[in-house]
Amino acid sequence: MDGVELVRSVGRLRTLGARPGLRAVRWAWRRRRTDAVARAGRGPELARVPGSVVGAQPSPGGGVVRFARSELRIVVAVGGAVFWGWDGAGPEPSYGLAAPVPEPDPRAGLEPDTDGGWRVVSQRVTVVVSRLGAVEVRTPGGVVLRRDLPPRWWEPEGGGPGRWSVRTEVAADARFFGLGGRSAGPRLRDGAYRLWNTDPGGSFGPGDDPLSVTMPVQLVVADAGTHLVFHDSTWDGLVTLREGREGDGSGHDRPGTVELRMAGGPLRCWVVVGTPARVLARWSRLTGPAAVPPSWALGPQHARWGFGDQEEVWRVVAGYRERGLPLSAVHLDIDHLDERRVFTVDRARFPDLPGLAARSRAAGVRLVSIVDPAVRAGRGDAVYDAGRRIGAFVRDGRGREVRGEVWPGACAYPDFTDPVVRRWWGELYAERLGLGFSGVWHDMNEPVAFAPFGEATLPRSARHVLEGRGGDHREAHNVYGLAMARAGYEGLRRLRPGERPFLFSRSGWVGLQRYGGTWSGDVASSWAGLRASLALVLGLGLCGVPYSGPDVGGFDGVPSPELYLRWFQLGAYLPLFRTHSALGAGRREPWEFGPMVLEHAGAALVERERLRPYLVTLAHLARLTGAPYVRPLWWDAPGDRELRDCEDAFLLGDALLVAPVLEPGVARRTVRLPRGRWYDTVSGRAYDGPGRVLLEAPVSRIPVLARAGSVVPVRGADGGIELEVWAPVPGRKGGGLVVPDPGDGWERAEVERYAVRWAAGRVVVRRVRGDGAVRPDRPVRVRGGRGQR
Ligand code: NOJ
Repeated sequence: MDGVELVRSVGRLRTLGARPGLRAVRWAWRRRRTDAVARAGRGPELARVPGSVVGAQPSPGGGVVRFARSELRIVVAVGGAVFWGWDGAGPEPSYGLAAPVPEPDPRAGLEPDTDGGWRVVSQRVTVVVSRLGAVEVRTPGGVVLRRDLPPRWWEPEGGGPGRWSVRTEVAADARFFGLGGRSAGPRLRDGAYRLWNTDPGGSFGPGDDPLSVTMPVQLVVADAGTHLVFHDSTWDGLVTLREGREGDGSGHDRPGTVELRMAGGPLRCWVVVGTPARVLARWSRLTGPAAVPPSWALGPQHARWGFGDQEEVWRVVAGYRERGLPLSAVHLDIDHLDERRVFTVDRARFPDLPGLAARSRAAGVRLVSIVDPAVRAGRGDAVYDAGRRIGAFVRDGRGREVRGEVWPGACAYPDFTDPVVRRWWGELYAERLGLGFSGVWHDMNEPVAFAPFGEATLPRSARHVLEGRGGDHREAHNVYGLAMARAGYEGLRRLRPGERPFLFSRSGWVGLQRYGGTWSGDVASSWAGLRASLALVLGLGLCGVPYSGPDVGGFDGVPSPELYLRWFQLGAYLPLFRTHSALGAGRREPWEFGPMVLEHAGAALVERERLRPYLVTLAHLARLTGAPYVRPLWWDAPGDRELRDCEDAFLLGDALLVAPVLEPGVARRTVRLPRGRWYDTVSGRAYDGPGRVLLEAPVSRIPVLARAGSVVPVRGADGGIELEVWAPVPGRKGGGLVVPDPGDGWERAEVERYAVRWAAGRVVVRRVRGDGAVRPDRPVRVRGGRGQR
């Protein structure tokens, strides 16, 4: 245990108190012992490589290449995604993929390559396999995007799952993104990134790694092209990245490298090649479209660990109302529970939750409930007793229920990898709905078992059902939160079939977007934490999880008024916009930081509400196209190296560029602009990119620019949608999509398409319908140009 870990452990034990602390020590010892028993008997390990090619058998989409000591199956799927798996691994079963896995592209097939190798040529990508098992992915023009060297396996002598590693080379100019939510991103610099969902234990800042949502998903962006690679193994792993270096043009570039070491699981991967937008579109088809949050979940939300009682919650709701500040939802943390036990209520402090929910709802504010997975293990606890009856809880190798210390005390853990348990758990949400809650907030689901030393999670040898296949925590750990999200989402859908569930989860894995979103977790209340929180949202979006956001103000401490305000101004442009704080970390209502902050935070809230139709549009487009709401500046120009390295601004959809203030004492900041014309949305002044501009960033606002030619649906004075159209550059055209809110049910979202052009010195906006174009039946306001329609 290093120094940092030691300090954290001592801190954790202090928070727990003496008795729970002692229990945590006991479970940690037991965890270490059970795992030691499970480890015993592993003999020496021998490395294996594929050896030389011995033959190949084509089949639709690709085929199987046989080597002396392994075989490689390659399939190019319809749509262009490429799958390959070693040692007989196929795409299924998979926690990450959404059924059905795409069909093989019948036009692609294995053919002999030079030097005894094989290749699969398809319309969008070419895969070349060398004689010794190196695998290259090339663009249709023949440029190499990645080259995986032959893999290596280490199998324990007595059999059982083996470790493996693959080393990959990419272009010298390539930049790495993704790997889930990483505080050090969005551009992932040289270093080792672990694939093991981990609660950072109360607070994290840039560089704390890993966090709660890790994913074996890398997005690699290079001059030659963009590609995404997904290594579909849920096991613990380590990704070591090293950016390349370009030589002097004489061909002596040092390639970028990725070394992936996995503790087990199949060696199989998916690669998707194309523009960032195409890559994310195909990725969302593979892993499933993102759940669209109800429109209210795109409004401002407030949370707090430490609401004393229901009157205090009401005072917060009333406080927003009295000040004319919009608020969509209040989140209740574990302090509204009876002894912090899941699916209970502290009736002394919250005697009438349904009444509170109804009163708040009438004021336009929903209640969202925290749901932790760990169940207090004590006879008489209704959830525990019911779970025990169906054998819902995770057991160790000797058949004993695994225990861990969490907020309610000694707990048992539902095995969400068991479909029966998921169904049972999903039904428990009826109690939450009955209390008047409109959504759920899944927490502590890495899963956490407090530990003074070692890993604060379940023993690796703990048994899991894994959809009937059976296995242990090494394989189930990373998908525990994902499977819990599935249980919650499917339960809510069954219970309220007419409403889209609102769910977000601290932990997750590939495919989390099918069930909901996520949030930063316990980000530190510091400027560094603010920066890290933006990195997380960007990285998660590039891995296919578009709905997320930070604890505005940071979790663990008291932010200065300036830090709070700058965080608030950033949060107002992120999908999940929620203030939250830890017990003892002060309050986060905007009026708690003085009149100046109140005024400017109020303006940010009003702007957020004005932009709600745009956010609704982005939520639906994320589902339909896979494009995250929050995108890096290089989204449309991955070849622009300066944009690739720009981490302090982002695109919100196609139309807006947001440049938050991430440092103290700033009154203006440099903003790097992608190509094209951009208007300062406040001054209306036009700037032409690419290039850098210095923009005013007074305490009252952060710079937000609109792309020339874009259409931004905003809330008009009458509450309906108004089209804010930013004049195209003269002689150029523009346009945009608008998805009006179809309500909180399952009605099909209609996509309206608008075209914008100049005609006779005026900006003309038309709605495109079939072959024709009609005058929009929504109010239009043209900005940034002199002409009106
Ligand atoms: C940890 C979560 O990250 C935090 O948001 C929450 O307030 C605490 N658990 C207490 O439930």
